Amino acid sequence: MAYAPAVVFLLCALTIVKAERNHSNVIKLGSSLSPNSNLSSWLSPSGHFGFGFYPQGNGFAVGIQLVNDLSLTKAEQSIVVWTAQRDGPLVSSNSMLLLTRDGLLLQTEQGKQVPITENLSKEARSAAMLDYGNFVVYDHRSQVIWQSFDSPTDTILGGQNLTSGMYLVSSVSSNNHSSGRYWLQMQTDGNLVSYQINITTPEASYWSSNTHGDMTLSLEVRGFLVLLPETGTGSAHPLANGSYDPRNNRTIIYRATLEAEGIFRLYLHNYSVMSRSSKVLIVWSNLDDQCEVKGVCGFNSYCALIFGKTNKTECHCYPGFNPNDEFPGCYKNGGYDGCTGNEDQRLRYNMASIDHMSWPGDHPYSVVRLEKLQVCSDSCLKDCSCKAVLYINGSCNKYKLPLRYGRTSPGISATGFIKVAETHNLQPLVKNETKNSRGLIVILALSLGSIACICFAFAVSSFTIYVYRLKRYKKLLDHTKVGLAEELFSLQSFSYSELEDVTHGFKDELGRGTFGAVYKGTLSTSNKVVAVKRLEKVVEEGVREFKAEITTIGRTHHRNLVQLLGFCIEGSRKLLVYEYMSNGSLARLLFNKAVPVRPSWRERVGIVLDVAKAVLYLHEECGVHIIHCNLKPQNILLDHTWTAKISDFGLARLLVPNDETKISIGGEQRSTYLAPEWQKNALISVKSDIYSFGIVLLETVCCRKNIELKVSAPDEMILSSWAYKCFKAREVYKLVEDDDQNVDLKTLERMIKVGLWCVQDDPGLRPLMKNVILMLEGTTGIPVPPSPELPKPVDF
Ligand SMILES: *[C@@H]1O[C@H](CO)[C@@H](O)[C@H](O)[C@H]1NC(C)=O
Ligand SMILES: *[C@@H]1O[C@H](CO)[C@@H](O)[C@H](O)[C@H]1NC(C)=O
Ligand SMILES: *[C@@H]1O[C@H](CO)[C@@H](O)[C@H](O)[C@H]1NC(C)=O
Ligand SMILES: *[C@@H]1O[C@H](CO)[C@@H](O)[C@H](O)[C@H]1NC(C)=O
Ligand SMILES: *[C@@H]1O[C@H](CO)[C@@H](O)[C@H](O)[C@H]1NC(C)=O
Ligand SMILES: *[C@@H]1O[C@H](CO)[C@@H](O)[C@H](O)[C@H]1NC(C)=O
Ligand SMILES: *[C@@H]1O[C@H](CO)[C@@H](O)[C@H](O)[C@H]1NC(C)=O
Ligand SMILES: *[C@@H]1O[C@H](CO)[C@@H](O)[C@H](O)[C@H]1NC(C)=O
Ligand SMILES: *[C@@H]1O[C@H](CO)[C@@H](O)[C@H](O)[C@H]1NC(C)=O
Ligand SMILES: *[C@@H]1O[C@H](CO)[C@@H](O)[C@H](O)[C@H]1NC(C)=O
Ligand SMILES: *[C@@H]1O[C@H](CO)[C@@H](O)[C@H](O)[C@H]1NC(C)=O
Repeated sequence: MAYAPAVVFLLCALTIVKAERNHSNVIKLGSSLSPNSNLSSWLSPSGHFGFGFYPQGNGFAVGIQLVNDLSLTKAEQSIVVWTAQRDGPLVSSNSMLLLTRDGLLLQTEQGKQVPITENLSKEARSAAMLDYGNFVVYDHRSQVIWQSFDSPTDTILGGQNLTSGMYLVSSVSSNNHSSGRYWLQMQTDGNLVSYQINITTPEASYWSSNTHGDMTLSLEVRGFLVLLPETGTGSAHPLANGSYDPRNNRTIIYRATLEAEGIFRLYLHNYSVMSRSSKVLIVWSNLDDQCEVKGVCGFNSYCALIFGKTNKTECHCYPGFNPNDEFPGCYKNGGYDGCTGNEDQRLRYNMASIDHMSWPGDHPYSVVRLEKLQVCSDSCLKDCSCKAVLYINGSCNKYKLPLRYGRTSPGISATGFIKVAETHNLQPLVKNETKNSRGLIVILALSLGSIACICFAFAVSSFTIYVYRLKRYKKLLDHTKVGLAEELFSLQSFSYSELEDVTHGFKDELGRGTFGAVYKGTLSTSNKVVAVKRLEKVVEEGVREFKAEITTIGRTHHRNLVQLLGFCIEGSRKLLVYEYMSNGSLARLLFNKAVPVRPSWRERVGIVLDVAKAVLYLHEECGVHIIHCNLKPQNILLDHTWTAKISDFGLARLLVPNDETKISIGGEQRSTYLAPEWQKNALISVKSDIYSFGIVLLETVCCRKNIELKVSAPDEMILSSWAYKCFKAREVYKLVEDDDQNVDLKTLERMIKVGLWCVQDDPGLRPLMKNVILMLEGTTGIPVPPSPELPKPVDF
């Protein structure tokens, strides 16, 4: 019953649409528009809507505008209600829109034709910009074969529906109508829900209509916004009523827009026929508090609503955190708070409280009932995993970092506590980021966790590093503009002077690699020993790209990868802080005569498997596929338990792209560890790492360098060819002659066979890492390897 009036209205609306179709403004085949010509848009009969080019950035986009003030024709006076190809490139003023039998085509300056009206079932004969803001294409029988109402962008207009499965995506800003960061989806379960874009987990949603069944969101021409059951059974769920008053000479146009800031609003444009100017009113919003929109402030910061004449919202860092200059979100101040669990945490930390706090969508890892607020905050001090607690009415909720969706509002009766290291000044903890609309837009655009985007840039499983590097950096630039993954925010951000202290002025050099020197240091807060790598030969690229790179490294977590703990970026100074590996590099253990004990046979087999697992993880398991490009015993480090871990992964892309670098990437070991395709300038792929792994395997098993000049016979000089000879002659034991008695010949032969497969000159013959592991473990049989072509010993 309740929706009966709505149906009446809708029928009414439809008749109006039909009756007002003014054939005098029908657009005929062959009609064209251009930003240059006098005619840059096709107006609706009333003149309220125009279809055509509108300026955006340095170019033009194609779309429908609601002309806000008919007496002014300036573009700023108009509101874009629909955009064609919103994420496509902008076009120049020399482009043209053309109505053809294939529909409406956009012809770019370069002569490319892009269809605007996609997937027409029949030939187009004419088109029209209708008075309700719907652009339609007709066939020869004047049947609508395409309409803009069927593919809304961020707005629905009076008379338009959002049927089950359809969604609105907010714009980047009021000046940029590309897809932004929020969406409003009419779900197939009947619920109308707002989310951060492309995340449909319940914790990423920030508003919902709580309806179910088969629903359609309908904005009726008279301003009645309602959820209607599609099947006719069930009840309608009104959201807002614009209450159109038809008694005077005015035109009222309604539009409902998902704003760039994530709020869904119903607007009324009130035009006077006499003065031709309009007044705009907000009729309804799905949220009053901007802070309720998830992700508005970035990681480790919270959104505060300040009551006032006009409610204001501000983003604040939590106590002990500092705002990041370029991204929304905040970093923890100071050193790494090593969490060994042995130290008395209460000695070094305080809890800073924030009233009226809530963390919707962030899940506590522990919830206990505690009567006293003080007991709750103390319990966090005693728990070294705990970084924050929320006390709500007797319930004590513990959280880890990063905190994503914090907000405060005078209406919330909970208290949040943040753990803060005592050494830090607890003075004005927050940098007020007074929210002007531009700032907010930047915040919105940036704080998007663009894991997917970064993945895109990294998931290049096969590429030529040098040829395509510049191109890829461009791509990376575009994609990382939208922000960084939360992992970056769980890394520690250090200042240069802090790292100077940590390393006692870069005194204790542990080694020098492709990227610069590595120094030993100790974090003052936890006495944890770390390795600080000062990057030297890296490209002078933006901070953003660098952060994107380390985000990827920071996201990797594997037992056999050296863990990145933090970073420092100050101008051209770029440093990375890694966990310290007390047993040094595999190269030192295998080749340095000064080292008293060589690893035992068992340990060597273990090391090879550790390395294989790490490479498999980089190649296939970490979500973003990373090619190491520089795998060698110098980059394989051992911790105190003799677990081998790979370092320097994910950095190859930071090297200066010139010929010099190309030589320096392998250094002296170039001809030894780099696959032949490096020398041939051919495509570098995961198979190049497999080659390097094969050499490392043979060297580790045989405890010698691949190229050794001081040997008893000349054919022993190159390990890979000598290994093949021994294998052919069924004399693999010769390869480990002076080793201990525990060598298991079956395992040895298996390892040598795998190594020989890996070092094949033809990348196509080399196995993938998952097969390497199966073969090493003896799970699958190993075919007899062919001879790996002899590497040409060019520069030893
Ligand atoms: C465009 O308008 C200008 C004056 O506004 C006029 O001189 C010119 O002839 C017009 N061009 C076309 C193609 O109508
Ligand atoms: C239809 O077009 C004619 C001719 O241009 C015009 O006089 C009339 O006002 C238009 N009708 C409407 C409803 O706009
Ligand atoms: C609009 O925003 C998108 C996504 O952030 C960006 O790629 C594009 O360059 C922007 N366009 C303009 C004109 O600023
Ligand atoms: C047009 O059809 C293609 C292929 O069927 C489909 O992938 C595409 O999404 C369609 N485009 C629209 C706008 O419906
Ligand atoms: C909107 O939905 C109603 C039914 O709910 C339907 O009759 C009408 O045609 C739809 N409008 C458009 C423009 O598709
Ligand atoms: C959201 O998903 C759509 C479709 O899968 C994709 O085209 C778009 O790039 C995604 N947007 C973001 C910001 O990830
Ligand atoms: C919307 O409001 C108008 C005026 O207040 C009223 O006449 C009409 O019935 C309302 N419509 C619905 C569907 O509630
Ligand atoms: C509407 O406009 C006409 C002239 O265009 C005028 O005669 C009439 O009085 C107006 N009606 C109202 C209610 O303003
Ligand atoms: C539109 O504006 C006129 C003049 O200011 C006012 O009288 C009328 O009530 C307004 N209509 C609506 C629906 O707000
Ligand atoms: C301010 O926010 C409160 C709570 O969300 C809301 O009830 C009130 O209407 C808002 N006031 C203004 C002026 O927007
Ligand atoms: C606090 O918890 C008690 C007991 O669980 C409950 O009765 C009371 O309603 C809660 N108060 C608030 C404000 O949530």
